[in-house]
Amino acid sequence: MARKIHTLAGYIYEYQRSVLDPEAFWTQIAETFYWQKKWDKVVEWEFDTPSIKWFTNAKLNITENIFERYLHTKKDKPAIIWEPNDPSEPNITLTYRELYEKTCQFANALKNNGVGKGDRVIIYMPMVPEAAIAMLACARIGAIHSIVFAGFSANSLSDRINDCTATVVLTSDGNFRGAKTIPVKAVVDEALESTSTVEKVIVLERTKTPVTMKPGRDIWWHDAIDDVSAENVAETMDSEDMLFILYTSGSTGKPKGIVHTCAGYMVNCYYTFKNVFQYNDEDVYWCTADVGWITGHSYIVYGPLLAGATTVMYEGVPTHPHPGRFWEIIDKLKVNQFYTAPTAIRALAAYGIDPVLPYKLDSLKVLGTVGEPINEEAWHWYHDHIGKGRCPIVDTWWQTETGAILISPLAGITPTKPAYATLPLPGVQPIIVDNEGNELKGNSVEGNLCIKYPWPSMLRTIYGEHERCQQTYFSTFKGLYFTGDGVKRDEDGYYRILGRVDDVINVSGHRMGTAEVENAINEHPKVMESAVVGYPHPIKGQGIYAFAICDMSDRSEENLKKEIRVTVARIIGPIAKPDLIQIVPGLPKTRSGKIMRRILRKIATGEKDNFGDTSTLLDPDVVTKIIESAGTAS
Ligand code: WTA
Repeated sequence: MARKIHTLAGYIYEYQRSVLDPEAFWTQIAETFYWQKKWDKVVEWEFDTPSIKWFTNAKLNITENIFERYLHTKKDKPAIIWEPNDPSEPNITLTYRELYEKTCQFANALKNNGVGKGDRVIIYMPMVPEAAIAMLACARIGAIHSIVFAGFSANSLSDRINDCTATVVLTSDGNFRGAKTIPVKAVVDEALESTSTVEKVIVLERTKTPVTMKPGRDIWWHDAIDDVSAENVAETMDSEDMLFILYTSGSTGKPKGIVHTCAGYMVNCYYTFKNVFQYNDEDVYWCTADVGWITGHSYIVYGPLLAGATTVMYEGVPTHPHPGRFWEIIDKLKVNQFYTAPTAIRALAAYGIDPVLPYKLDSLKVLGTVGEPINEEAWHWYHDHIGKGRCPIVDTWWQTETGAILISPLAGITPTKPAYATLPLPGVQPIIVDNEGNELKGNSVEGNLCIKYPWPSMLRTIYGEHERCQQTYFSTFKGLYFTGDGVKRDEDGYYRILGRVDDVINVSGHRMGTAEVENAINEHPKVMESAVVGYPHPIKGQGIYAFAICDMSDRSEENLKKEIRVTVARIIGPIAKPDLIQIVPGLPKTRSGKIMRRILRKIATGEKDNFGDTSTLLDPDVVTKIIESAGTAS
């Protein structure tokens, strides 16, 4: 196994080497993969337009690096252990051989249904092994998958289908989520009323929820694979062919289709998985994310499988049927590395330690967090009660756009510090700049987090909107990739992520664009205008606080707020519902009409003064009025 770092000195050495000679560093890692043809150049890049290419002209298939590469040594090793929502249902283990066969069979089924290289396939599925099989089958034949988290609404789904002109949707009859059964096929049917490109819908039977199957368009998964061969020769892909598109929220209303390509993503995912989690061959690794988010892509499916690991996939929620479910699964499956979100930790910590006590948790070696800043209290709870003080916590900072972890401890190798993502991984060159773009050198500085040198798994473009990619990430600070995060580098040189500095809020680790939520709220006919900001929330990290100017003539405030929440759930999905809504007579605006969110953020945090310079406001009185009625937010 190549390039696994074992000591702190090893990390320091590898890091320095990766900065001095990035091409030699990444070459050595890439050499360990199976390539149909090797690259001509390791990296060709410039951040202005931007144009980023890794391993130029190489030919490969990522699934050959999971299957063909491991089949002789690991064919009977569990690849995926799937744990169902209902603990009384048996779990399923798929070995590398079984996963390979199912992938090839479904790849052939996709081909039989007209899917070819470069076609876009939407995956809108529960957390079942078939979701991973669907991703791998697409990759096998060179189709581009785009997973839409199955909690998104029909409207969000159709927007994404239309944006990437997908021809096939993979879904299920329903999803089990805790005590609920969600009829997702019905959501797909509704979404398809506003799309025109989808020719086939393949439906997995999971919940036996009654569904309507449209003749000619809809087919059952079990019928699609019936009598289909389990042999498939992997499509030859160029290193820079698209592997997948994943939509994420930005500071404007429309989600961005982040594009990842084959070779760089593969190399980077594998390398970070091995080193951050210090995975050893017999370990059982569990990441609790959903495959609908980047964490599920890189660290449930691609990273672990590229490393020949055993990866656990859990269908349900942390608290069903009891708040000790995660800990129960850890004991049952003897999980060694456990990777989850601070929100889940806070939500479970809120139950106290009683639900943890029945479990030994002695298999655990490494704990991880991702998706949002972890507060010190949650960090210590996790460290003391779950890790029993023995397990290093890797607080991993990265983004949908970065494809793989960029700043994080290496478990047990480099130091940890509560609430700090600590140090950049080898190959990653962070830089902190002030608002004018001047580099803040040395330690004890705070500013905007940028990256100055490309890494293999970075985004290449926004699907169909290259200009927007340039504007969003490469124009704020010339020559740098701008992350949108604020950061502090402390006196020891450790990085602490401070949260978003743009109009994105991070709710339970899920990114929400304020404009996106505002647009949804404004769909309610009684809302004239709205402004959304984040505020500190004890469990979710940030909650959504909406200020809305409304016509109150024929509704009670309570009913109107209820209706606004229903509207947002319908337009985006339940995850975007505002936690607090305050009906206001006006919004603080500059004379040029720009909403001063800085002020609203302060009000949402409970501040009553210290609003800084409000002289540019069109109507300063409006601030006083909003503060006076802040208590009515609910
Ligand atoms: C935030 C999730 C603090 C950050 C992988 C980033 C974090 C955004 C951390 C990306 C962390 C992610 N500490 N903040 N360890 N990890 N973030 O695209 O604001 O869903 O920009 O990717 O989450 O969210 P995304």
